[in-house]
Amino acid sequence: MDTPRWFPDELAHAGAEHRDPAYVATYDRKATTDPTEDVALLRESQLGATSVVVDLGAGTGTFALAAAPFCGRMVAVDVSPVMLAQLRANVARLGLRNVECAQAGFLSYAHQGAPADFVYSRHALHHLPDFWKALALSRIADVMRPGGVFLLRDLIFSCELRNVERAIEAWLAGAAERAHDDDAGQIGWTRAELEEHLRDEYSTFSWLLEPMLQRAGFEINEARYSPSGVYTTYVCIKQPAVG
Ligand SMILES: C[S@@+](CC[C@H](N)C(=O)[O-])C[C@H]1O[C@@H](n2cnc3c(N)ncnc32)[C@H](O)[C@@H]1O
Repeated sequence: MDTPRWFPDELAHAGAEHRDPAYVATYDRKATTDPTEDVALLRESQLGATSVVVDLGAGTGTFALAAAPFCGRMVAVDVSPVMLAQLRANVARLGLRNVECAQAGFLSYAHQGAPADFVYSRHALHHLPDFWKALALSRIADVMRPGGVFLLRDLIFSCELRNVERAIEAWLAGAAERAHDDDAGQIGWTRAELEEHLRDEYSTFSWLLEPMLQRAGFEINEARYSPSGVYTTYVCIKQPAVG
């Protein structure tokens, strides 16, 4: 079925930086993400040689590349052709034969083949407003087998409503000094970049997202809230369809 005209243009909402080759070329050095804990978590949940895994909003593939040696089929999906080109280059460099790269968004990805045993998504769902997050979560549930595991990490606020400003100010105070590593000093996301995230993207509250996950057909097995109240990790189980 064609995407309805009233669906958003996900690439246009993916963040200008994710379409910028210069930003993408330095993304891994800026992010310094260690996927070890997430790969271990999936392996503890029976990730194995026949498992089908989908990484949505995969970026340069930090997680997909690390998990691929432990699964049967890895589908790394990202809406940005620039991110995807970097991901493809990384896959080729590592010679990984079980990684497929797909240019698609949460709302347009069409899964082929056996249902996913695992879906992973890190720091990407916040690009959609809440209405579209709910639809995206429902689409994720649709590509999974019952009992499959959905590991979701994002900037999701668990702080009390009355403490939001204090929590966010404390988070901003810890921002990196430098955005690029061609400068001296700490690199990472600067205060200006984090402020832009808050202003222009769609991070939401845990108490809004959790009913969305449940309504989409997931049981929340575990919710980990960062001490800052800014980051949340969910381990969810796809429930069997009712009726
Ligand atoms: C902050 S990066 C995170 C990348 C990777 N998951 C990581 O943890 O390093 C966000 C990624 O989400 C992608 N993205 C943004 N909106 C998306 C959408 N609607 N569907 C799929 N991917 C999206 C961007 O292109 C970008 O690669």
